[in-house]
Amino acid sequence: MPRALEIMKREHLSLNSVLHVLNQLVLDLESGRLRSDDVDYDLFEKIMTYIEEFSDTMHHPKEDKYLFPALLKKTSEANEVILELEEQHRRGIANRKKLEVHIQAMKDRHPGQVEKVIDAMKDYLQAHREHMKLEDHVIMPLAERVLSEEDWAPIDAAFNQNEDPLFGDVPKSKFRKLLSDITFLAPAPIGLGGGRNR
Ligand SMILES: [Fe+2]
Ligand SMILES: [Fe+2]
Repeated sequence: MPRALEIMKREHLSLNSVLHVLNQLVLDLESGRLRSDDVDYDLFEKIMTYIEEFSDTMHHPKEDKYLFPALLKKTSEANEVILELEEQHRRGIANRKKLEVHIQAMKDRHPGQVEKVIDAMKDYLQAHREHMKLEDHVIMPLAERVLSEEDWAPIDAAFNQNEDPLFGDVPKSKFRKLLSDITFLAPAPIGLGGGRNR
């Protein structure tokens, strides 16, 4: 399997585990198990930072810049899907920012914000998951089928940078630390709830 595909798949797994924590928070808020006064905003902030810096700044732009153009050049099979994925990348950033506004308003105890956070998060989670599924099940198999070794070279080089502990867009250690913090702070049964008694 081309190196870039391996890295992309691994990045989707990391993102999925962060989205899984977000999903648990939504379920807890919705069921009342987690009261808005008890929300760990540090955890929310870390999750949103991870999504912003890992997904929206590093992962998606590399798909837009390297993978999608290479596919468009090679085949017209996925033209519509790629247009949709590019649009989802743009929409994802706008929706993440909206979500951050709602989280801040919930933190500031504006009335009705808990419901807005729950609804916005559910939409966000569903969209992000469907986006990755489309890439996993349609784009990656197609890329593996039609791209040559020569086509893969610049894509591999771009995604390899994400793996480089020193020369990536953001130091890899930062993501590793964020991920382990998120897992530590995540509510049970996923994480340890930051060691708090729950
Ligand atoms: Fe994407
Ligand atoms: Fe992706």
